[in-house]
Amino acid sequence: MTKKMPNLAVLGATGVVGREILNILAENKVEYNSIKFLASKRSAGSTIEFKGENHTVIEATDDVFDDIDICLASAGGETSKRFAPVAAKKGCVFIDNSSAFRMENDVPLVIAGVNDEDLRKHKGIIANPNCSTSQLMLPLKALDEKYKVKRLIVSTYQAVSGAGLKAINELTENIKTNLVGMPYEPSAFKYEIAFNVIPQIDAFCENGYTKEEMKVTNETRKILHFDESIKISCTAVRVPVYIGHSEAVSVEFENKVNAKEARELLKNTWGVELRDDISTFTYPTPKDAAGKNPVYIGRIRDSIAFDNGLEFFCVADNLRIGAALNTVRLAQKVIEMELY
Ligand SMILES: NC(=O)c1ccc[n+]([C@@H]2O[C@H](COP(=O)([O-])OP(=O)(O)OC[C@H]3O[C@@H](n4cnc5c(N)ncnc54)[C@H](OP(=O)(O)O)[C@@H]3O)[C@@H](O)[C@H]2O)c1
Repeated sequence: MTKKMPNLAVLGATGVVGREILNILAENKVEYNSIKFLASKRSAGSTIEFKGENHTVIEATDDVFDDIDICLASAGGETSKRFAPVAAKKGCVFIDNSSAFRMENDVPLVIAGVNDEDLRKHKGIIANPNCSTSQLMLPLKALDEKYKVKRLIVSTYQAVSGAGLKAINELTENIKTNLVGMPYEPSAFKYEIAFNVIPQIDAFCENGYTKEEMKVTNETRKILHFDESIKISCTAVRVPVYIGHSEAVSVEFENKVNAKEARELLKNTWGVELRDDISTFTYPTPKDAAGKNPVYIGRIRDSIAFDNGLEFFCVADNLRIGAALNTVRLAQKVIEMELY
């Protein structure tokens, strides 16, 4: 007997990621019975447009989850900690965009198309990886299957939308004040982000890396089932771009690798699109990636730093593959695999 179509909820529906989740759901690839739009008391009662109709935003409370089968949540870590256990107890599958549960042993951390089987282990909560980790998983999984990753070094150039609506508005205001020579007091970032880059995303850890950088290390290990022998490090930098994270990636492999062969492999990898021809100055940029679903790869070259190494540039829409798109894909997998 096939299961009934699920009742969905989007928690954080008024936020940057929430709105993108709604845009993707509106593309009609997920079949559902009903959908609720949840946010905090602040937005409760306001209306949100979805599929050409206005819907009322409802305040998230425990009772709201009584008849929800799958919740797509992007309302911050504290909100997830507050509602995910309650929702799970009521039989709802809570797909969470925050970092609150990502490293918990009984919470699968999944990129659709990379480690879908891990979804079967869920106990009510499924975590969506951090945006900078997410975009790297599809190409890295394909490369690892063939060449076996030994060491990974990632440098990120991350868009302000990764820090939410407040940060997007701050970039605009900061640019405007800079252009007329007025002083600007930043609040979403430690320093002015207009015409600048900031080598700090999230708080510093004891080892001198930031939490964002350690997320890339720890989440990559969990998703790709890498053990401690595989060395991973990251430097995460905020840049004055609205949408689209870029990453310069250096990988050392166990096996012999060459750029030509790797290019062919990535050309045929699901979810990945090559923009890689230096003879025509073809490589990916965040402006091209914004609003699109693929992870774009270019500048693939044999490494001159490692014997069996590759270097490449990886760009994706951080609000899509880095958050909303993977959340929707996970909901789709949960439905297809009948895990709700
Ligand atoms: N932006 C990204 O690229 C990205 C990527 C990966 C993961 N994430 C994660 O996704 C989450 C949301 O990020 P965002 O960028 O979309 O933030 P945002 O634009 O600030 O939106 C936050 C959303 O959460 C809701 N919310 C806040 N407190 C709530 C509460 N107590 N109860 C119910 N809803 C509440 C807000 O509703 P109101 O309208 O009522 O305030 C709003 O809808 C964060 O955990 C973030 O770390 C973001």
